Amino acid sequence: MRIKNCYNFHDFRRYAKSRLPRPIFDYIDGAADDEITYRRNTASFETCDLIPNVLRGVRDIDMSVTVMGQQLAMPVYCSPTALQRLFHHQGERAVAAAAAKYGTMFGVSSLGTVSLEEARAISDGPQVYQFYFHKDRGLNREMMARAKSAGINVMMLTVDSITGGNRERDKRTGFAIPFRLTLAGLAQFAMKPAWGIDYVTHERFRLPQLENHVDMGGGALSISRYFTEMLDPALSWDDVSEMVREWNGQFCLKGVMSIEDAKEAVRIGCTGIVLSNHGGRQLDGSRAAFDQLAEIVDAVGDQIDVIMDGGVQRGTHVLKALALGAKAVGVGRYYLFPLAAAGQAGVERALELMKIEIERDMRLMGCNSVRNLNREHIRFR
Ligand code: LAC
Repeated sequence: MRIKNCYNFHDFRRYAKSRLPRPIFDYIDGAADDEITYRRNTASFETCDLIPNVLRGVRDIDMSVTVMGQQLAMPVYCSPTALQRLFHHQGERAVAAAAAKYGTMFGVSSLGTVSLEEARAISDGPQVYQFYFHKDRGLNREMMARAKSAGINVMMLTVDSITGGNRERDKRTGFAIPFRLTLAGLAQFAMKPAWGIDYVTHERFRLPQLENHVDMGGGALSISRYFTEMLDPALSWDDVSEMVREWNGQFCLKGVMSIEDAKEAVRIGCTGIVLSNHGGRQLDGSRAAFDQLAEIVDAVGDQIDVIMDGGVQRGTHVLKALALGAKAVGVGRYYLFPLAAAGQAGVERALELMKIEIERDMRLMGCNSVRNLNREHIRFR
């Protein structure tokens, strides 16, 4: 298989599956419980249709957007995701470089495997810091100060992960860091020796955002344990309000879904909200961001930037979200599978295909700026 022969999400996914040990592939691909929300995320885009206009003079297409004060050359950005060097040794470096090349935003996670400072040095484009709120308030304050001095443009606090989602695929394989695999999981690693060679011949796996604070030596840390033991389930609107004041810059909440919460986000001074169900990885049965988008845009869209992620695999998905009023759209697995398949070249291929699709789709829609997409352009069935 070659990255040049990949034309869409499914091709990238298949390629990644052929390279990754099954426990790692399942960590990316998997979701919570019965994975109903995960499937709904992509399916939700099929509940409406695009209505094109014709003969509109669409030689030049402007796909730039401004979101939370950041100028993006395309309306799709790479959502922050964890553990990227586990998928390919370049990890976050590849994503930062590819995002810079396409003029878009990317994020480094609290669970990132490259430091936010190093990522900052790779890209001169907008960079998000995905923040988890830990029980240790000192750690939170230090992480924020560090992000500030690194020149992070947007603070993105994830609010849907106050405890670990029930990811049964990870339970079966024993996915954790460092690896504490079940026998079945170990056998799966043995079947992908090329991944193993790549992993051991590059620098040691680290979690630079956390390593000064979290003792990783005392046993394996599963994502579920990290969420449940280290994050603060008592986190409240008052805590976040204080954080917003302390950050004193672009601040967004990722994982807001209700109108009430969206209004609360406005009230405490957030500049953005990301409608998200964490790729279906947390609360299974929760609503897809796209299904919930119009309601939220109608309630707060004139006061805060509304963004969404979840299930986006196609340019037409992006057009539909923007037509409903999203300012930009995040992707996760869409760039992670190509990262796993081919490193930076893979992420670039994914962004290139997305860019070409959006451009073509805009022409076919008879609309020359993504900022002009509106509800006249779609109908629900
Ligand atoms: C996950 C977290 C780490 O979904 O974002 O695995």
